[in-house]
Amino acid sequence: MQPTDTDGTLAERLLQIAHDLPRQRLTRITHDGQSYFVKTPEHHASLRWRMQKGDPEAAFARESALLRGFAARGARVARIVAADDRHMVLADHGPPLQQMVARGQADAGLMQRLGAALAELHAPGLAHGRPSLRDICWNGTHMTFLDLEAGAKLQATAPDQARDLFLLLHSVFVIDGSASPLAEPLLSAYRDAGDPAVWHALSIRSRRVWWLEALTRPLAWAHRIRGKKRSEFAALRATRRLVART
Ligand SMILES: Nc1ncnc2c1ncn2[C@@H]1O[C@H](COP(=O)(O)OP(=O)(O)O)[C@@H](O)[C@H]1O
Ligand SMILES: [Mg+2]
Repeated sequence: MQPTDTDGTLAERLLQIAHDLPRQRLTRITHDGQSYFVKTPEHHASLRWRMQKGDPEAAFARESALLRGFAARGARVARIVAADDRHMVLADHGPPLQQMVARGQADAGLMQRLGAALAELHAPGLAHGRPSLRDICWNGTHMTFLDLEAGAKLQATAPDQARDLFLLLHSVFVIDGSASPLAEPLLSAYRDAGDPAVWHALSIRSRRVWWLEALTRPLAWAHRIRGKKRSEFAALRATRRLVART
């Protein structure tokens, strides 16, 4: 495949650099004072992983096609500067929100921007599939969504988008603890900017997973007793409570 981008020579140079790197899923590189991320297909060491996660090359090609498809619809997703079959060179979109939250650098204002950014991503009928604070970057001006996996959709329904919102709120409670004040401003900003059908689907989804919360309650207790700060089970309960009271 020919390298692709708007500036042929830059793309060729970046791909040369990418080819010479030791094989890793992600490597940060600097070229001409600009920072980029080189992404390559996942490597599944065992047959079991391969069976669970599918063909890595196919997943890689799918992600590259989805990133282009989302960008063509105006979504702020990782920008492919150059690509071939085994490498994607992406623009550096800044630190992931997970890092900012973990360092106490995220406030209500930033979370409102995040809620508005998710509503903006959804507006043309897209769904990310599994948004988490790890896969959203903030460069001081823009939020950018990374890592479009199998669940990403170019023709999303309101329940698909509600699932995105639910998972994102859940990721805030996992990373910042189940008493986090950061999820509420995210949710209210989404409500102000997003489609009311998604709001409705969110409350249905949240009520529907009551059994999951009931089933994992003992695990949430076990986490609390062990003093585990990041509990996805406690985060599930916190997410459902937040949705129920707003
Ligand atoms: N273009 C980018 N800009 C900034 N950070 C990035 C970029 N691409 C990847 N990263 C960082 O690398 C991490 C892993 O990248 P990701 O695309 O999610 O790979 P994976 O599919 O293996 O999870 C992200 O969570 C983010 O912290
Ligand atoms: Mg990721």
